[in-house]
Amino acid sequence: MMREGQSAVINRADYIAPAYWIDTVDLSFDLDPAKTRVLNKMTLRRNADVPAEPLKLDGEELNLARVLVNGQGTSFRMEGEQLVLENLPEGAEAFELEIFTTCAPVKNTKLMGLYVSNDSFFTQCEAEGFRRITYFLDRPDVMASYSVTLRADKAKYPVLLSNGNLVEQGELEGGRHFAKWVDPHKKPAYLFALVAGQLVSREQRITSRAGKEHTLQVYVRPGDLDKTEHAMNSLMHSVAWDEARFGLSLDLERFMIVATSDFNMGAMENKGLNIFNTKYVLANQATATDTDYSNIESVVGHEYFHNWTGNRITCRDWFQLSLKEGLTVFRDQEFSQDLCFEPSARAVKRIEDVRVLRTAQFPEDAGPMAHPVRPDSYIEISNFYTVTIYEKGAEVVRMMQTLVGRDGFAKGMKLYFERHDGQAVTCDDFAQAIADANPASDLARLLPQFKRWYSQAGTPRVHGTGVYDAAARSYTLTLSQSCASTAGQAVKEPFVIPVGLGLLDADGADLPLQLAGEAAPVAAPRTFVLTEAGQTLTFTHIDAEPVPSILRGFSAPVVLEFDYSDAQLLHLLANDIDPFNRWEAGQRLAVRSAIESIAASACPAGAEPLNDAYVQAMRSVLRDPALDAAFKELVLTLPGETYIAEQLDVVDPQRIHAVREAMRAQLATALADDWAVVYEAHQDNGAYTPDPLSSGRRALAGMALTHLCIAATVSGDSVWPGKTYQRFKAAGNMTDRFNALAALVSSGHALAAEALPRFHAMFKDEALVIDKWFSLQTGAPDRGGNILPAVKQLMKHADFSLRNPNRARSVVSTFCQGNPAGFHRADAAGYVFWSERVIELDAINPQVAARLARALDRWSKLAEPYRSAAREAIARVAAKSDLSKDTHEVVSRALAD
Ligand code: TRP
Ligand code: ZN
Repeated sequence: MMREGQSAVINRADYIAPAYWIDTVDLSFDLDPAKTRVLNKMTLRRNADVPAEPLKLDGEELNLARVLVNGQGTSFRMEGEQLVLENLPEGAEAFELEIFTTCAPVKNTKLMGLYVSNDSFFTQCEAEGFRRITYFLDRPDVMASYSVTLRADKAKYPVLLSNGNLVEQGELEGGRHFAKWVDPHKKPAYLFALVAGQLVSREQRITSRAGKEHTLQVYVRPGDLDKTEHAMNSLMHSVAWDEARFGLSLDLERFMIVATSDFNMGAMENKGLNIFNTKYVLANQATATDTDYSNIESVVGHEYFHNWTGNRITCRDWFQLSLKEGLTVFRDQEFSQDLCFEPSARAVKRIEDVRVLRTAQFPEDAGPMAHPVRPDSYIEISNFYTVTIYEKGAEVVRMMQTLVGRDGFAKGMKLYFERHDGQAVTCDDFAQAIADANPASDLARLLPQFKRWYSQAGTPRVHGTGVYDAAARSYTLTLSQSCASTAGQAVKEPFVIPVGLGLLDADGADLPLQLAGEAAPVAAPRTFVLTEAGQTLTFTHIDAEPVPSILRGFSAPVVLEFDYSDAQLLHLLANDIDPFNRWEAGQRLAVRSAIESIAASACPAGAEPLNDAYVQAMRSVLRDPALDAAFKELVLTLPGETYIAEQLDVVDPQRIHAVREAMRAQLATALADDWAVVYEAHQDNGAYTPDPLSSGRRALAGMALTHLCIAATVSGDSVWPGKTYQRFKAAGNMTDRFNALAALVSSGHALAAEALPRFHAMFKDEALVIDKWFSLQTGAPDRGGNILPAVKQLMKHADFSLRNPNRARSVVSTFCQGNPAGFHRADAAGYVFWSERVIELDAINPQVAARLARALDRWSKLAEPYRSAAREAIARVAAKSDLSKDTHEVVSRALAD
């Protein structure tokens, strides 16, 4: 094995099937926060397909008390943390292995394995947490049948849950009780879960299309029951959607969701017992925003959809992680789109998803942590739960659907389950099934080349040029592709790139598309498949120079370069039938102005980086009665500072911030009258519902308030800030209340200082709202370096704790990863703060620390003095002895950049 420091590198090419299979697992827990006793009885047999080897079981932070083979004591040894058994029965016969261990859940601050949160027990086993509960072959290709007995004090832990069906429960002496659960499905250890504590549940009986009855439950702490309706509705929608779209039904009598406020990620798809971060379960109109509601719908859907894509068919090894994550993100994106009644709301969801991809995944693909959708190596698998595996992986699945069509994709899914249900498989198996179900498709024809999306890292760039030939009445579009080298991959082979395409005439209408050699025109839009380094498309019967609309719907995860004139972009913004490219045209115009201003040395106060045509176009969008509020809000939102930074070779975060703030102020002032009209026109007095149309109206009204407050701080007028403060006090839901508060904070108005403590007092017992209160302040626009001192002050607040991941993220991560101008200070104090927090967190929770460690991924792009100071801070972290594998891998890769 290769070694880097003390950390072993795991390579995909080294995969070998396990030397043993584990068929059944019978677990008994005596739950106690300080010392939980775990008895693990397994039946195993040798895997005849691989050379004989000793049995090496994974374990971590366990106290081993006893090992029995077929009821007899046996010899064993430790190899690092692995338990090694050599004298096992020969032959193919199954044997029984009994292991008795103890662990200390209350001391488990890593939140992996069995831990305590608010006096309840929870588990998190993905990816490698099960080994912190008992010795095991902790790898996803070992699938076993589980039965679980939980014993605990009845008064303290009245609810005892695990995967599958409850088969027995009863009293024990000493005030204790027990529950026995049997999971009817085989599963890998990472899907094991248990929960024990004082919980209450909302319950719903449903009948599937096939006529089967199921019980759905959402468990929360007493007092939170009034915040479970939306999660339950989302779960019911998920069950119905997977049946309707893919013919996949719930395969369990009982499906449970449990919420915990201490959780490393969003949620976890444990078989029949999903465990969620409270952030993605709890919502009522007083405490949750429209964004929270929509995130809950996505995450509930995501975890539910894993029941088939992830659980019934799982991953052979962790290099195949995107097999389940990319596919399941694709499914949750489609689910949310299909729940939209209006086509325009579907488009809004698509734009939001692409925005996440481009602001988070594109930088990852260009930085030191760049990796293929199916990585070739890792040190710590937890570091590879990335936007590349998830969001780029989803785009790869989406391109497959584009290449085979929506019905063809459904057929491919059907074949995938016919072939592989109950198995642990690879990304190749998935792509093969989709292609084989569609033998006449472009995907089948191009499969080996298409799979470069899995093996090659980096974001491809597609460069387009267009030439109009009036004499020939033809328009020739030349598309070429390239992809920069990434670590370990110097040269890239061409990708298969589906390009959605249209040509707009002078009136903005789509022209019929007829390629040279084609007998008749085909109605737009069309998708062309780019496979070569360069390709030329010649369109005939074109009477005047058209404006090309390329990569419609963001048909591939690439950067499109096309030298549009401002006039062409304004034409697309005003007319394109493709809402994505309409939005994109506005973003391109804004980025262009930003880059010009950044390049022109100084950005004096009162500078106006945006040209009149752009401002006028934004006014037209705001006034257009045919457009939805949600779409207007997206068009009027300027590209973010990190997105602008990615378009530059050398990044000065302060200059980007100054220019973007000047752009915001310009839109605020120039459109002041329109903002006022927009605000008044988007008041809903009816009951609160979080549907896309009304949340779009609230979003646009909130945006209007922010701009009105910004305009007021420029003019000194106090009318709108006063109205905003009134709105903050009187709002009937959290979205309106929070938007009003954010308008005061974001504009830097003095009334923010009155509103913030008031907001805290109102919601002091609502942890998720207090998280918002913290992050609003740590993510606020920096004014003269005021945010870092505020962050340090907030860390002294009685409500702050570094141990709770949500709280740590709302203060530290929001500042370091969501507030570039606050963080990148010329005096390097932001970097010093970051390095101290990474080191401090690493001793508590390496997964949370390693995510924070990625705040300086893009250090090598920074201008001086930021660049040198950032590198020094990373080196300081890397030099720390006994750093976790997680953080060590991130900072050492950053230094190698
Ligand atoms: N599989 C989970 C998902 O749905 C991700 C996840 C939850 C996770 N908790 C984790 C990954 C802890 C690593 C560590 O996407
Ligand atoms: Zn997932």
